[in-house]
Amino acid sequence: MCGIVGYIGPRKILPVLIGGLKKLEYRGYDSAGVAYLENGKLNILKEEGKLAALEEKCIGIETENTIGIGHTRWATHGAPSRVNSHPHTNEAGTIALVHNGIIENYAKIKEWLEKKGVKFVSETDTEVAAHLINHFYFGDLRAAVANAIEMIEGSYAFAVVSSEEPDTIVAVRKDSPLIVGKADGESILASDIPALLEYTRDVYFLNDNEIVEMKRGSINFYDEYGTKLRKEITRIDWDVSQAEKGGYEHFMIKEIYEQPRALQDTFSPRLIDGKIDISEMGMDEDFIRNLPKITIVACGSASHVAHVGKYIIERVAKIPVEVDIASEFRYRKPLLLPDQLVMVISQSGETADTIAALREAKDNGVKVAAVVNVIGSTIAREADAAFYTHAGMEIAVATTKAYDTQLLSMYMLAYAMAHVRGTITEEEYNEAVRELTLLPEKAENVLELCEQIQHIAYERFMDEDTFFIGRGLDYALAMEASLKLKEISYIHAEAYAAGELKHGTIALIEKNTLVVAIATQKDLIEKTISNIKEVKARGAHVICLTMEKYLSEFKDQDSVDEFILIPDMMDMMAPIIGVIPMQMLAYYITLDKGFDVDKPRNLAKSVTVE
Ligand code: F6R
Repeated sequence: MCGIVGYIGPRKILPVLIGGLKKLEYRGYDSAGVAYLENGKLNILKEEGKLAALEEKCIGIETENTIGIGHTRWATHGAPSRVNSHPHTNEAGTIALVHNGIIENYAKIKEWLEKKGVKFVSETDTEVAAHLINHFYFGDLRAAVANAIEMIEGSYAFAVVSSEEPDTIVAVRKDSPLIVGKADGESILASDIPALLEYTRDVYFLNDNEIVEMKRGSINFYDEYGTKLRKEITRIDWDVSQAEKGGYEHFMIKEIYEQPRALQDTFSPRLIDGKIDISEMGMDEDFIRNLPKITIVACGSASHVAHVGKYIIERVAKIPVEVDIASEFRYRKPLLLPDQLVMVISQSGETADTIAALREAKDNGVKVAAVVNVIGSTIAREADAAFYTHAGMEIAVATTKAYDTQLLSMYMLAYAMAHVRGTITEEEYNEAVRELTLLPEKAENVLELCEQIQHIAYERFMDEDTFFIGRGLDYALAMEASLKLKEISYIHAEAYAAGELKHGTIALIEKNTLVVAIATQKDLIEKTISNIKEVKARGAHVICLTMEKYLSEFKDQDSVDEFILIPDMMDMMAPIIGVIPMQMLAYYITLDKGFDVDKPRNLAKSVTVE
């Protein structure tokens, strides 16, 4: 999605803005622009396409200016083009503004302004905000912005500058993230943490309709009525190196390799005296004991985590679990019970649909706990409790390490709740804790499959269709494996509950169609083998992911063309390790196809619009 930066300080503005926008490139964009002042006049530079085009345009511009705003745009209203890219200005070119989000009532405001004689130049919703702020401008930029947002419906993060107030940036947000960083003698704002880390780790998170006024040497916050607010600084413990590739060719492969560390960081701080501590979930023992139901809500890969969560929480903690995709949950008027839990899962903590689902649940008076990666994100702040995954900063659009730490969190929650509820024996609990402790090491071992996976990728990268099948937990893993492949390689991929295939989809299997069968669950393996035979009989090329201990189950039959063997572990834990070769398969196939692995087409790292 779009990215925003803004800066005031001693440094020359253009390299700061371009550098900040580069840190947000991973979010996906199709044009970029900056605004800065020179001799009392606002200068705007914009280019369609990659940031490199804008950067080239900046070469040779020797501005002494040290305040400005920048933007990477991901087109919603109006095609990607120079005129539609941000910053947008009022007619006189005295006010410039960048915007993330969507102004829903822009047509109405546009008509109103046009009647007053305002001329528009772009097709964007954003341009109305620049003219509207100008309409309300009488020498006080903050007041003009406050008046403008009263009329605006929709989601926004705005950063605004004016040539009339050359030492000020005003910014405001609603349903779109905005963070302000405070460093020694300089302040920077951005829509996402990576753009700030070079300057500071001390940040303020803006809440909806809070306005920040950044001047040289001061940062002040106000509510929409002009009342000054006191805000707490949050210290971000992410490192600037996490936003760099560190010798890897892509962020995605770096993040795949970071998984043993991420699993360790998520698990170890919560293992206290041999017991899993889930106190961050804010549930006391009585609440856990009496839970009648849990509803897990998320989008995309995080919703696949929810499916695994359902299997294991129901199995070990004996609590009924319902899984909902956030975009469905928010509109389907779900029946929630007053003493149940709604759990939302999100890497970014800024996914618009998941935020809406969280608010829907809270409006119904239900307790909401979040499993979330980004500290201080909207979801982390608005949920009643936040259980942080410690994946670190995730840059590649396709999630890997955040996904795996979310999965691990489901297991920690399931076993900790089961322990409280007495639905497993002490021995079973201790055995599970032992297995969880071993996962980082197993994740390390499974990375050794890299060469085999590269070979498979080379053999199969020209495929047009791939099917992932499995039962139970293996089906949940198949869903994630399929999404991973299709979102970055653009190969059509589908996940099927193996037993469901013959109810229609098997018609698509023909000679050499790739079927990846996942078979890691002892009680289901025989059934999955039957399904493998069915596709093999129709000519499929079958790759089977299983554990070493189950290889013997496949003897005396030659339906599998190649095995991917993951180390032995408790069957229940297999998705956490099994997903890693699936991520590698998607990565290497995409590499062979020559596509941009980290920034797949049409996708953005966090989906902050509905
Ligand atoms: C896929 C992927 C997406 C996200 C989804 C939710 O690789 O990354 O499907 O899982 O957009 O995002 P978060 O977790 O940020 O809410």
